[in-house]
Amino acid sequence: MTETMKRIVLASRPPGKPGPENFRLEEEPLPQPGPGEFLARVIWLSLDPYMRGRMSAAKSYAKPVEIGETMTAGCVAEVIASNHDGYAPGDLVVAPLGWATHGISDGTLVQKIDPKAGAPLSAYLGVLGMPGLTAWVGLNDILEAKPGETIVVSAATGAVGSLVGQLARLKGMTVIGVAGGADKCRYAVEELGFDACLDHRAAADAKELGKQIAAAAPDGVECYFENVGGKTLEAVLPNMKTFGRIALCGMIAWYSGAENPAPAPVVWGAILRQRLRVEGFIIFDRYDRQPAFVAEVAPRVADGTIHYRETVAEGLENAPAAFMKMLEGGNFGKQLVRIGADPA
Ligand SMILES: NC(=O)c1ccc[n+]([C@@H]2O[C@H](COP(=O)([O-])OP(=O)(O)OC[C@H]3O[C@@H](n4cnc5c(N)ncnc54)[C@H](OP(=O)(O)O)[C@@H]3O)[C@@H](O)[C@H]2O)c1
Repeated sequence: MTETMKRIVLASRPPGKPGPENFRLEEEPLPQPGPGEFLARVIWLSLDPYMRGRMSAAKSYAKPVEIGETMTAGCVAEVIASNHDGYAPGDLVVAPLGWATHGISDGTLVQKIDPKAGAPLSAYLGVLGMPGLTAWVGLNDILEAKPGETIVVSAATGAVGSLVGQLARLKGMTVIGVAGGADKCRYAVEELGFDACLDHRAAADAKELGKQIAAAAPDGVECYFENVGGKTLEAVLPNMKTFGRIALCGMIAWYSGAENPAPAPVVWGAILRQRLRVEGFIIFDRYDRQPAFVAEVAPRVADGTIHYRETVAEGLENAPAAFMKMLEGGNFGKQLVRIGADPA
């Protein structure tokens, strides 16, 4: 067994867009599990937009990563030593082990993977993991989406958005994606089965994007699955039908403070005039819904009805670059880092 492990720590807090100087790679002796703990080697590391929030000291729903602490992350890992009654060497788990090659856990927030289920291990961080659950809960529980309705989904080809749109199509909804670039839009329509997909990067401003949404949804939009904020939010709002619903899942356009702030009177004005229901949600409150999500989605992933795509960076040292690229739209589907080999 290797004698050392590597991890990436938060070196400093970014004032805006994160840069390489905000991360530091460290090597240290491999820790040993204490009583009631296990040691696992990481196979797949998940990179997610919420990690940008954890780099900031601002008050949020979760505590920030401290300077010098390992960057937070969900991982697929293999238990390699254990003093925990519930876990044995060889067990495969989804666990919050951070940006690291190895990690110690006492079993908190750990889920076992059943290798007999046959899904690729990486899927447990994407379509069958946290982003997939987010899509399913947002569509069913927050939006209460119904057949025949029209939905707009932003970040439409990403880990969350791609599943939102496919589940909405399976429900019999009209699905309009908003994504960055012609390739992503083509994929949304041709492979994911969306009715239309609009390129927010090609649109000069919110007005132009809004006109394109109006053309794609001439009768208006009942549901908006909000992943981005920024220009896209401003474009969608005037197209919402009276009593429309918005699931506020994310606002990545603003995570690093880059894109224009939508003026509050524009946003509040639309919500008031169009009597919109807007509900924010954080998926960590909703894990009671996981069994129902897995029961519905896993068979459809297994039989190929639901498609998903991944962007894979190789090796822990490449995680910061992959993360920074993802925040700018450089990923195409779920962003992962391959840390170790699948078990033989
Ligand atoms: N509430 C929750 O519990 C929860 C849980 C999971 C995720 N989320 C949120 O859901 C959203 C999607 O997450 P994900 O994991 O599926 O990530 P993702 O969509 O796979 O990747 C992020 C995508 O955001 C898009 N983006 C970046 N800057 C943008 C901008 N200025 N305007 C429009 N789009 C922009 C890019 O896609 P394009 O190239 O298409 O622009 C990029 O690929 C994020 O906001 C995330 O924070 C929330």
